[in-house]
Amino acid sequence: MAKEKPWGGRFKESTSKEVEAYTESISFDTKMYKQDIMGSKAHAAMLAEQGILTDDEAKTLCKGLDAVLEEIESGKLVWKQELEDVHMNIETRLTEIVGEVGKKLHTGRSRNDQCCLDLRLYTSDALRNWAVLAKNLIKALADRAEENQGVLLPGCTHMQPAQPVSLAHHLLAYAWMFKRDVERIEQCEKRARISPLGAAALAGTTYNLNPQSVADQLDMYGIFKNSMDAVADRDYVLEALFAGSVIMMHLSRFCEELIWWANPQFSFIYLSDAHSTGSSIMPQKKNPDVAEIMRGKTGRVYGNLMNLLTTLKGLPLTYNRDLQEDKIPFMDTDKTVQTSLSIMEDMLRGIRFRADRMEKALKAGFLNATEFADYLVTKGIPFREAHHITGRAVAFAEERGLALEDLSLEDFNHLCDGHNVEITDDVYVILDYFTAVKRRNVSGGTGPVSVKKQLDELKNWLG
Ligand code: ARG
Repeated sequence: MAKEKPWGGRFKESTSKEVEAYTESISFDTKMYKQDIMGSKAHAAMLAEQGILTDDEAKTLCKGLDAVLEEIESGKLVWKQELEDVHMNIETRLTEIVGEVGKKLHTGRSRNDQCCLDLRLYTSDALRNWAVLAKNLIKALADRAEENQGVLLPGCTHMQPAQPVSLAHHLLAYAWMFKRDVERIEQCEKRARISPLGAAALAGTTYNLNPQSVADQLDMYGIFKNSMDAVADRDYVLEALFAGSVIMMHLSRFCEELIWWANPQFSFIYLSDAHSTGSSIMPQKKNPDVAEIMRGKTGRVYGNLMNLLTTLKGLPLTYNRDLQEDKIPFMDTDKTVQTSLSIMEDMLRGIRFRADRMEKALKAGFLNATEFADYLVTKGIPFREAHHITGRAVAFAEERGLALEDLSLEDFNHLCDGHNVEITDDVYVILDYFTAVKRRNVSGGTGPVSVKKQLDELKNWLG
């Protein structure tokens, strides 16, 4: 009865249908079909190199695996739940196509090392895509920054106007975040793309396998050191889930800003129609739903990390079936990260920045107050004192509905009474918002020279 299962030898009764449905992974692991077939071809070729199979047998297996691949890609292959997973579905179909020799493919291999190999390749391939998409986004940020080097807006701390910054500087802050993400992805990819094949069930095999050959054929960076670790380790998935969480966190912070900026009370940006939606009742509405959904999906991506961490925490060595649950959170995160990075790039390229509105906002927030305090310091007043005088100047201007630069020299000198300084015309140059930005050319500052340096460095890195 249970003979139809590749592992059915010791079973007398069939599996209950309910159990089959409960334990299957076919509903999600078929996504790894390419990696599974590549891995099997490499394994077959290695078995022939080592004299465990004949060259003809390996050739037949590889041709058969290509035929299965073709059937999968043309939608002809019917996945069977009773065959549990992608591995047994492919092997069973292979044997139907090539006959008895198909049963030799699994020599010296277990699904325990096979599923790890597949997921390691799948994770590595996904991470490579993430890096490309993150770089595209960095490119878009750099392009938009380059166009907007002369545009200023209020830089905030505590979500309150603080000091003027250039829009380019603000956008490039995100570019550096995503650059760190790319670096994290690349490091994680190095650890993911290590071959576990040869670990077999948990203890290695008695066959004279050559794991390095499999790793070389699959363009991997190395092979496992310990067979028990090899089949139990899912650190690389966790790292990928973490890298994905940080990417989403960065995207979500940017989304939050875009949502504020699109609010008519700010009107710093217009989102393109393609990236906004309307309301079913309020005809005037143009909602930043894309940014909100991205912010929302971030929660699910964090959840995926917690999901796998929790699955792993109680597992003794080595393989436990719990581990089958590793793919679900990763595949979900993978889809979210890839689509989010790509949509953010498009959305960013479609944004119309409102320089007029941003500059108007500078006037409202006393963003040049630090400039005035620093000016007083140049006149010999200790900074703490200068801070105090400036605070009084702000209160004085605020009561009159004015900005600092609207005060007269007489006002300024009056505010400095008793300090033995003379405020002169040059104060208005210092109070100018553009001057404030231009004077911040220290390394990493918002000044145009610094911003240009950032742009050059990023473009150079992008290549
Ligand atoms: N579908 C399984 C997984 O993804 C494959 C490994 C099954 N191994 C086993 N000993 N039952 O983890």
